[in-house]
Amino acid sequence: MERIHIDASTSYDVIIEEQALHHLVSYLGPLKSPRPTIIVSDDQVAPLYLDIIKQQLEESGYTVYTYVFPHGETEKNAHRLLDLVEFMAQKALTRKDLLIALGGGVVGDMAGFAAATYLRGIDYVQIPTSLLAAVDSSVGGKTAVNLSAGKNLWGAFKQPILVLCDPMTLQTLPAEEFANGCGEIIKYGMLGYPELLQDLQTHPLRQSDLPHIEEVIALCVKAKAAIVSQDERERSLRALLNFGHTFGHSIEQLSHFTVKHGMAVSIGMALMMRAAYQANRISEQELTAFLQLLTTHHLPIHTDVATADLCQAALHDKKSQGDTITIIRPISWGHCDLLTIPHQDLAHYVVKEV
Ligand code: NAD
Ligand code: GLY
Repeated sequence: MERIHIDASTSYDVIIEEQALHHLVSYLGPLKSPRPTIIVSDDQVAPLYLDIIKQQLEESGYTVYTYVFPHGETEKNAHRLLDLVEFMAQKALTRKDLLIALGGGVVGDMAGFAAATYLRGIDYVQIPTSLLAAVDSSVGGKTAVNLSAGKNLWGAFKQPILVLCDPMTLQTLPAEEFANGCGEIIKYGMLGYPELLQDLQTHPLRQSDLPHIEEVIALCVKAKAAIVSQDERERSLRALLNFGHTFGHSIEQLSHFTVKHGMAVSIGMALMMRAAYQANRISEQELTAFLQLLTTHHLPIHTDVATADLCQAALHDKKSQGDTITIIRPISWGHCDLLTIPHQDLAHYVVKEV
């Protein structure tokens, strides 16, 4: 079991423990006594795990409502959000009540935003069930839905009161979704953790290798905790967590979300790493090793989206200010920095082949 403390405006613990789902009440009880609670999940996760937590909560005296919506990124939108908060209001949930987000990043981001804004904010718990949510989206309090103009454009910072990660749930993830999470994991390697890259080169992450998965989740959560505790609201440092995301978000958006988040981030990282090689910041051997790391984890490294379209879509990025944009630039093996450039220079970083 790992307990990682997140030191932010609201501090909380991330628990990583096999079978943690079965012990929700023992972690939740000291934080929130029995009260009306809404569990939000999607239609793929709910049949697998919702009853485990619902039954436990009800046996302990919580009144439980459930809101289950169709899975997929296209559901992370304003209409779905409105439907959810209307449901919460119909159930007369009050400020002291609780929301539990059970699922991947889509559930966590959307339900988290509902918790951030319903009655100007109620407590919520993240129970990540995808690898991506476990290593990234469930921690740090970023919540949002997508707008037609771009990803995550309507959102809020709202820290959960608890993150409960049960790595056993990752066993039911489709293989493609496991790979999707590996995209965000490899990202952390470039944020000051070259030893993670080394580990994954020697021992690629396998879905059946639970001890390795748990170790890697804990490392990523600690890496994120270190950044979030210094810059919770992304004034600067936290933007590093968006390595690969500037073009990644463009690819996701332009594919109408047929390219998944972690896959798009993988392509975004590959573009930036090739640019870093061209600028002599990393060697040919390092570039090859990085691209191989991605492909070994079944992640894509190429896109046929036109460079102009990638750059145009990236202008909706939250790191764009006026006619400049801050990019996350690899500066050496295992390290990135932040660089603000004019919009017209963005195309130099879209390197599709070397
Ligand atoms: P997702 O929530 O759509 O989950 C992926 C798929 O896996 C879904 O179909 C889901 O039903 C299914 N699934 C989840 N857990 C499962 C399980 N245990 N067993 C079987 N199926 C399961 O997507 P995701 O990849 O988890 O998250 C992507 C989202 O996260 C994107 O919207 C992205 O923008 C967001 N994100 C947010 C942050 C943040 O800091 N808030 C960080 C990174 C990504
Ligand atoms: N994944 C980006 C962030 O949490 O800041």
